[in-house]
Amino acid sequence: MNILVTGGMGFIGSHTVVELHNSGYTPIIVDNLSNSDKTVLNGLEKITGQLFKFYEVDCNDNRAMESVFKENPIDGAIHFAASKAVGESVEKPLFYYQNNVGSLLVLMELMEKYHAPRLIFSSSCTVYGEPDFLPVTELSEKKPAESPYGNTKQICEEIIEDATRASKRIRAIALRYFNPIGAHPSSLIGELPLGVPSNLVPFITQSAIGLRGPLAIHGSDYNTPDGTCIRDYIHVVDLAKAHVASLQYLSGNAQCDFDIFNIGTGQGNSVLEVVETFKKVNECSLNYAIGPRRPGDVEKVFGDVAKSRRLLGWQTELSLEDSLRDAWNWQLSLSRKS
Ligand code: WQD
Repeated sequence: MNILVTGGMGFIGSHTVVELHNSGYTPIIVDNLSNSDKTVLNGLEKITGQLFKFYEVDCNDNRAMESVFKENPIDGAIHFAASKAVGESVEKPLFYYQNNVGSLLVLMELMEKYHAPRLIFSSSCTVYGEPDFLPVTELSEKKPAESPYGNTKQICEEIIEDATRASKRIRAIALRYFNPIGAHPSSLIGELPLGVPSNLVPFITQSAIGLRGPLAIHGSDYNTPDGTCIRDYIHVVDLAKAHVASLQYLSGNAQCDFDIFNIGTGQGNSVLEVVETFKKVNECSLNYAIGPRRPGDVEKVFGDVAKSRRLLGWQTELSLEDSLRDAWNWQLSLSRKS
């Protein structure tokens, strides 16, 4: 089965290409390389022994996307391609709505036209905002988005729900990711943040290897055990496997038009816990200082993943230690290349 992977050269997309291949699917990668690098293809080939079809195409380019559908029978699509920098979305909301919502509309219209019946959508725990109760379940209230980025995820989920209800040609699953971290254990693919990382773990690894100054911990006066924010950090390989499980679920459950699943570990860790675990598991030092809170940060969020376990037959297999070890090994491999 040919699975179109939009954003397939990105962090989560590339790891999902590996797991799709490992499960017997044929991934076809579409990526405009705006936030990724073509060398990822080499890493994917070294891991799988397979050179994957890659189209350097912007998902908003209807004509270019249609040519991909004309050239390949597409049995399903996993839609990663989107901009995801929360802060940038506040500065450039129109770009975010055009890029994130527009690309979904182009993809779904072509899936309708060319009878590609299955869609997995990359959504996010940001739709929950600051939850009233923890852990959040898929039925937890969706709070008003804290950023245009988060709003695009909420809007896209609603578009998919309406479109799959109206047309029996496409059935879809939205996966609400928590915080993806780590890298493939081979250290051949991983996170490639452009510029100064805004996310915690890539900043930690770049600081530890000397590329950055000390880590600034954004606030230690939150209502949490150690005062720092709590998140649900999931290994990117576990996250990738959830996409394969979702495709298999859609294939085996024809009555499912649209459904939503939390994809996380089901437990929360604080920033300081991540820092201390990183130092311990990698036996390295890390300089950090407590700084002011970061505007827009949620105090604590982590997922209830019982539904994913029950219906998708999926759950995480890797630990926070595994994630931080793989993230560090990936950083070390990058420094050997440079
Ligand atoms: C985690 C914690 C920071 C950097 C992100 C994306 C969001 C979604 C999930 C895709 C927070 C703290 C961070 C630093 C710090 N991704 N931190 N110093 O904000 O939970 O969400 O991943 O859907 O779009 O924004 O992740 O890694 O930025 O922050 O103290 O230098 O680490 O304050 O508490 P976040 P993050």
